[in-house]
Amino acid sequence: MPNASSLTSALQEQLNKIHQQINQYNHQYYVLDQPSVPDAEYDRLMRELITIEQTHPQLKTLDSPSQKVGGQPLKSFTQVAHQLPMLSLDNVFSRDEWQAFVKRLQDRLVTQSDIVICAEPKLDGLAVSLRYEEGILVQAATRGDGSTGENITTNIRTIKSIPLKLIGQSGVDYPDIIEVRGEVFMPKASFDKLNEQAKNKGEKSFANPRNAAAGSLRQLDSKITAKRNLAFYAYGLGYVSDLYVENGEIIDQAFLKSSHFQRLCQVKALGLPMCPEVRLLENPQQVEEFYQEILNKRDALSYEIDGTVLKVDNITQQEKLGFVARAPRWAIAYKFPAQEELTVVEDVEFQVGRTGAITPVARLKPVFVGGVTVSNATLHNQDEIVRLGLKIGDSVVIRRAGDVIPQIVSVVLDKRGDDAKDIVFPSSCPVCDSKVAKAEGEAVLRCTAGLFCQAQRKEAIKHFSSRKAHDVDGLGDKLVEQLVDENLITTPADLFKLTEIDISTMDRMGKKSAINLITALESAKETTLAKFIYGLGIREVGEATAANLANHYFTLSAIQAASFEDLQTVSDVGEVVAKNIVNFFKESHNVEVVSALDEIMNWPDIIEKSADKLPLAEQTFVLTGTLTQMGRSEAKAALQSFGAKVSGSVSAKTHFLVAGEKSGSKLTKAQDLGVTILTEDDLVALLEKHN
Ligand code: IVH
Repeated sequence: MPNASSLTSALQEQLNKIHQQINQYNHQYYVLDQPSVPDAEYDRLMRELITIEQTHPQLKTLDSPSQKVGGQPLKSFTQVAHQLPMLSLDNVFSRDEWQAFVKRLQDRLVTQSDIVICAEPKLDGLAVSLRYEEGILVQAATRGDGSTGENITTNIRTIKSIPLKLIGQSGVDYPDIIEVRGEVFMPKASFDKLNEQAKNKGEKSFANPRNAAAGSLRQLDSKITAKRNLAFYAYGLGYVSDLYVENGEIIDQAFLKSSHFQRLCQVKALGLPMCPEVRLLENPQQVEEFYQEILNKRDALSYEIDGTVLKVDNITQQEKLGFVARAPRWAIAYKFPAQEELTVVEDVEFQVGRTGAITPVARLKPVFVGGVTVSNATLHNQDEIVRLGLKIGDSVVIRRAGDVIPQIVSVVLDKRGDDAKDIVFPSSCPVCDSKVAKAEGEAVLRCTAGLFCQAQRKEAIKHFSSRKAHDVDGLGDKLVEQLVDENLITTPADLFKLTEIDISTMDRMGKKSAINLITALESAKETTLAKFIYGLGIREVGEATAANLANHYFTLSAIQAASFEDLQTVSDVGEVVAKNIVNFFKESHNVEVVSALDEIMNWPDIIEKSADKLPLAEQTFVLTGTLTQMGRSEAKAALQSFGAKVSGSVSAKTHFLVAGEKSGSKLTKAQDLGVTILTEDDLVALLEKHN
């Protein structure tokens, strides 16, 4: 019979093996991005570990991977005095400011030669300092005021990519005490998921991933932090006891390399994650290119950044440069233009769209945000105004991220003046004075006059001649507006009656452009049934639905005659769209325009193909990123015309992911699931093959 102590030592050995194995899996998964075993195997090991620790609590240690699931809630956070202060960074915002910074570096270093720069993204999260003693994570603290922070060790232990034990041997591969500093952040996908869950539960959502990361780290209950999927990248070191053992002899100051970049690589080798975008630049001139490259990549990165951080790479030079107040002289943040700014809503006007929707538009005091000057922002509908609690004259936070249209994020109530005015919705159409109405269950107010409303006429004609419909070259928005205002046209069919004289009398239109437009209209007569249906501008019938209708019914008359029930048998057509189609063809004015256009325009007959014989039947595609050779909806319509299903999200059922430029989390997920990835060129080749 084995005695108690030999049983414990056998268990200890088993535990050590499990620790080692789980640490290795964590490192492969969270740091190297190369999972080596299925999740089930990982979970099995973790359960085995927890069971042993529950039955033998004396064997539980601080570096046990079980600490990653969180522990008992704390009453409050204790304070931690940083052995070396945690510094902040000064900012520059332009090329000139960056060059001035470089000049200061050269002056102080008394050098004309190139200064090597370590260039890093500026991660938008929270600074933390991780203290490892003899390789074990013993303390983690927030920055606080730079000299004292909060002890968040239990929370930090739950972050999957932060090792509880360093790789290697203390005093040989790393010094006895080493403080690693870096940023804790929440990846964009985790942030979206968290807010989605909060919304479903009716809870308050976080404004941005940074706030979500901060809120998650400041939880007294580390089990909550463990569920938040936080991440970490190391960007520097704090206190380090730089001792090194060589041939049994202790050598001082020998462990760390004298390059910041190489130090980060050393930290990475110990098992801590380092941002993959970090680059070593030979000279400060290369910074502009780096800045631009990172700015272009910004939307595609799986985490938020708000600029770049540029550091003098040579540690001797860093020491020579020293610090000012709370920031080093050897590093600077070169920030991207702010994506949020404060401005004032000077007025709210109402626009009438193609489908009669009356959209409130805020006229703003012009403001430079996200790299452009913004003077308008859509307010969508009345619900949005109520949600924001907006009045005319209010100061608002406006956000413009990437190519996204500017949005009003919130009202700054503290700045509201006594003269702030309520926003009153019009009781009749601001263009044609007809009645306005809100359909049941809809937030949108609409003009009821249809194509009798001048605004809707203009929009219908613009839509008909737009690129994705009949692509009438030379017929700009301004020209359409003028032709309608002059009563020369009232419907798209009237376009084909225009004479050279009619056109050439319009503003900025000469004889030559009139002839060109007539020629463009002539070629627009040759079309396809799908484009014809799309060009009619039926509510919620986009390119893809139009293609589905054409492929299902083959003729215009069959689409016109289709019943509400039958329309719902078409792929992608639900009750709402079916109702819109039936209502469109019920309107005698629309029928007149359609038959007039039918007389004028031509399209080839559609050869009958049953859906299951189409070449891409049963194949599910997801499109992501920016496609440069065609629009996303164009690609969707083309794929659907070959029988493919096009879905919005990646799942185990996805067959192909088409990854355009700046593909983000969908690409990562597809790669994880082993989905076949196609480039845009692959897609074009596939479509050509089946054409
Ligand atoms: S280095 C001594 N590197 O920016 C220099 N900071 O605005 C200390 N940050 O508190 C900071 N990415 O939270 C450094 N690659 C990076 C960074 C970075 C984000 C944050 C950090 C710091 C703040 C200063």
